[in-house]
Amino acid sequence: MSNEHNQQKLSSARFSESTDAFVEAFTASIQFDQRMYRQDIQGSIAHAKMLTKVGILNETELREIIKGLQQVQTEIEAGEFNWSIQQEDIHMNIEARLTSIIGLTGKKLHTGRSRNDQVATDIRLYIRDEIDLILSELKRFQTGLIQLAEREADTIMPGFTHLQTAQPVTFGHHMLAWFEMIKRDVERLQDCRKRVNTSPLGSAALAGTTYPIDREFTAKLLGFERITENSLDGVSDRDFAIEFTAFAATLMMHLSRFSEELVLWSSAQFQFIDLPDRFCTGSSIMPQKKNPDVPELVRGKTGRVYGHLMSLLTLMKSQPLAYNKDNQEDKEPLFDTVDTVRGSLRAFADMIPAIIVQKEMTYEAAKRGFSTATDLADYLVGKGLAFRDSHEVVGLAVAHGIKTGQDLSEMSLDTLQTFCDKITDDVFDVLTLEGSVAARDHLGGTAPNQVRAAVARARVYLEEG
Ligand code: ARG
Repeated sequence: MSNEHNQQKLSSARFSESTDAFVEAFTASIQFDQRMYRQDIQGSIAHAKMLTKVGILNETELREIIKGLQQVQTEIEAGEFNWSIQQEDIHMNIEARLTSIIGLTGKKLHTGRSRNDQVATDIRLYIRDEIDLILSELKRFQTGLIQLAEREADTIMPGFTHLQTAQPVTFGHHMLAWFEMIKRDVERLQDCRKRVNTSPLGSAALAGTTYPIDREFTAKLLGFERITENSLDGVSDRDFAIEFTAFAATLMMHLSRFSEELVLWSSAQFQFIDLPDRFCTGSSIMPQKKNPDVPELVRGKTGRVYGHLMSLLTLMKSQPLAYNKDNQEDKEPLFDTVDTVRGSLRAFADMIPAIIVQKEMTYEAAKRGFSTATDLADYLVGKGLAFRDSHEVVGLAVAHGIKTGQDLSEMSLDTLQTFCDKITDDVFDVLTLEGSVAARDHLGGTAPNQVRAAVARARVYLEEG
């Protein structure tokens, strides 16, 4: 740590002894909040421009401040900045360095603001930047899902309820279920962005400031859509961080469900898919192993994001107005949420279009488990039976199939007629897997042409979004 940075703490005049070394380290946030350096500098430049506009700083001072802050940014990005625990956090580290570069003018920057509105502004700018990156990664992931859905629009696999074979579905249809979930996640994130994108700058410590500040001006410079309407709320609100983490927890829940299917499907027992080797690792002892590490890890990482959501909710619970030091604890959960979501999404966006579907295996699996039993029941309703009676008839046919090891489509017409004399040889059209999926031909159904129509709608949605 350089000497310049060991200058007195900014707030030390009222103290008669210096802070205990342990307390200093315990209360500091510089170890983690340095990641907001860009947003802090951006916010300070906007604040300085506003102070100049309202006549508190002059143009020369503004130029000095901007130049000094740019130098600070260059030093940080070159890895040359000496972060100091004594300067506690990102705000004071930057301000202290600015003052050491430009002198007295640096000390004027903090006029009319507090670290309380400064940090609230920084976090909002930081989350907004991350939201935009996450939105583009979500789009890449959705694009991959659509590609895979289109490629496998005709591929037949068993559809499950209770993880028991239920009815045949198309693989493309299954992928589009994931697309819908991610679409809702995107909508949630876009909605959250509106509330994130609100400027608390000007709330100062808690009550506003005596200077003739122009809050609309700084908000505009920073790209905020609106400003907070109450200074007490402005410095203490962290709802937006909770909302963001709630979005993240829901997304991770979806990714974890998806991961679970990928893990199951790539197992020797299912063999529905093959994950390219680059997304898997081997075992140090079992030479035959190819482990689906990426989906397993994403499934596992879901827990920490749930934990961060609970941390933030608990952090805010019972806090009296306005700012409290507790709020410093919002950053690590938020940052880790961002890292986890970005990493998981990147892995999924890369992996999904590269999945290899073992069509013969999914087809064979769909043939087992009497997946067309409902089709036979519907067929009998068409022949005049009440659905409950046809359900009973098909139940008997399935019991016979279990005993003889035959699928319904493998039974002779004579055999089928022993269960119901209304069955004729057109029954075999509905007992095939192809017939079964093609018959579910309505919006939201699994028929291949519905999958293609849904893919087309999804493409339009992505282009417009
Ligand atoms: N490091 C602090 C935080 O993260 C900045 C605000 C500190 N404000 C204060 N009055 N101590 O919340």
